[in-house]
Amino acid sequence: MLILIKESYAELSREAVRIVANAVRRKPELRIGLATGSTPLELYRELVRLHREEGLDFSRVVSFNLDEYIGLPADHPQSFHSYMRRNLFDHINIRSENVHIPDGNWRGSLSDYCASYEALIAHAGGIDLQVLGIGKDGHIGLNEPTSSLASRTRPKTLTQQTIEDNRKGFGPNEQPPDAAITMGIGTILEARRILLLASGTAKAKAVALAVEEPITASVSASALQLHGDTTLLLDQEASADLRHGDYYRRVAEGTRRLNPERLW
Ligand code: GLP
Repeated sequence: MLILIKESYAELSREAVRIVANAVRRKPELRIGLATGSTPLELYRELVRLHREEGLDFSRVVSFNLDEYIGLPADHPQSFHSYMRRNLFDHINIRSENVHIPDGNWRGSLSDYCASYEALIAHAGGIDLQVLGIGKDGHIGLNEPTSSLASRTRPKTLTQQTIEDNRKGFGPNEQPPDAAITMGIGTILEARRILLLASGTAKAKAVALAVEEPITASVSASALQLHGDTTLLLDQEASADLRHGDYYRRVAEGTRRLNPERLW
């Protein structure tokens, strides 16, 4: 893992934009995996700006979202479909036929549907760059603790912590969803490159467990230790519980000198 520690959320986002925009410029038909949550919001805002002001072209980009709630109408403001439209897709020139988000309202067999989502990713040639956030419990996508490290796209029951974390966008009389369809950890690990963003003290513990403790199904993000091209972009707060922060800073500096292509 390459761990880049930035001063602030703004700087972390700037670096994320640089990486994603460069990936699109280098490979206009980039297959990108996308995450929701508050952390990538500034990345998406800035990609929209680059599209508007500098003509960053998404017309050949193919996207696959990590997850979607089960049973929430796609047009509900808190659905990940709505989130993606509102924060990115409505403002760039990605083609609707190139956008893929799991269908949380699928009426037939969910396991068949999830297998078909996997097949779509495989048919597209796999994911080149997967953007991830991290939950307080260390989840990536919505692979809650005890998710198999080999798991594939499937329905998943959410922990109470995740349900509470997601409650803020729902009305006082609304019950937030308690299940979702999520790409599996095995699915995520097949992406060629992974970029995980984490900001704020609420993520510090999960980040430290994922980076400095043994790989365990209790912390899904620890599975990223098995991936050969993962970059963790952290702000100071999210890196606060790391024991070896000084070393990671030196590694980042060394990488800049010795292996700059690792920084994309
Ligand atoms: C949700 C999303 C994840 C996201 C996580 C953290 O569970 N499904 O993709 O990484 O929340 O969200 P936030 O970035 O808002 O802290």
